[in-house]
Amino acid sequence: MQLSFANLTKTFGLRTVLDDISIVLPDVHALVVIGPSGGGKTTLLRTVAGLERPDSGEVRIDGKILHFDEASLLKHRRSVGTVFQSFNLFPHLTALENVILPLERAHGYGHLQAVEAAQAILKRFQLDGHADKKPAQLSGGQQQRVAIARAIAIKPRFLLLDEPTSALDPEMTSEVLDIIGELRDEGRDLLLVTHHMGFARTAADHCLFVADGRIVESGPVERLFAEPHSMELKQFLGRVMRY
Ligand SMILES: Nc1ncnc2c1ncn2[C@@H]1O[C@H](COP(=O)(O)OP(=O)(O)O)[C@@H](O)[C@H]1O
Ligand SMILES: [Mg+2]
Repeated sequence: MQLSFANLTKTFGLRTVLDDISIVLPDVHALVVIGPSGGGKTTLLRTVAGLERPDSGEVRIDGKILHFDEASLLKHRRSVGTVFQSFNLFPHLTALENVILPLERAHGYGHLQAVEAAQAILKRFQLDGHADKKPAQLSGGQQQRVAIARAIAIKPRFLLLDEPTSALDPEMTSEVLDIIGELRDEGRDLLLVTHHMGFARTAADHCLFVADGRIVESGPVERLFAEPHSMELKQFLGRVMRY
């Protein structure tokens, strides 16, 4: 996909969270965003998802300007698959019902068609044995796989994943990262915020280092890790790679 930002600015009160961000990424498939906490990664992803309106500036996806009126945003949001760190499943619905809901409510599926599609996708993620369980009866890794299944079920244009493993223990982290790797191998475009530098390095084709509301470095993931140019990235990598 093509992704570009021009003079993108977002403030919350007095705080500038995205600070005049401009970049053109003409051909990215697996974009990973790294950077210190509070630097603006989530806000950037939420803006691309159409969940956040910038104060000024432009976002273009595949050459098309993202319009920020409510009707355009709603349409856009429905075309993007999003997965956040805290699972975001409806607690009162089963795994199957969680996947069905957006298909019926937002994507025009009839009930039977939605059930069939949801069952197929749960099976693909080896979750068919858990279809009738509610989130509280599933492990964190299983919940996050349901959230990914739900995001994929809508046939999104691309996937946005914001620290999808940060609430998981190591074993469950691998099971979720394996799925993300598979989706990438299938040729799905994805934007991922992660603290797993090893995964970022193997899975991503392009990396953005975001700090203080700015894209401090952008380039092939290998280049950023092997030859960080800025002091900020050197220090950040030093901190996250230490243990
Ligand atoms: N809805 C909000 N209201 C006020 N401040 C916010 C809101 N969302 C994020 N922020 C602030 O914006 C800054 C960047 O946050 P965020 O985009 O979540 O960074 P990151 O994902 O890199 O940790 C932080 O200082 C955070 O407190
Ligand atoms: Mg964040």
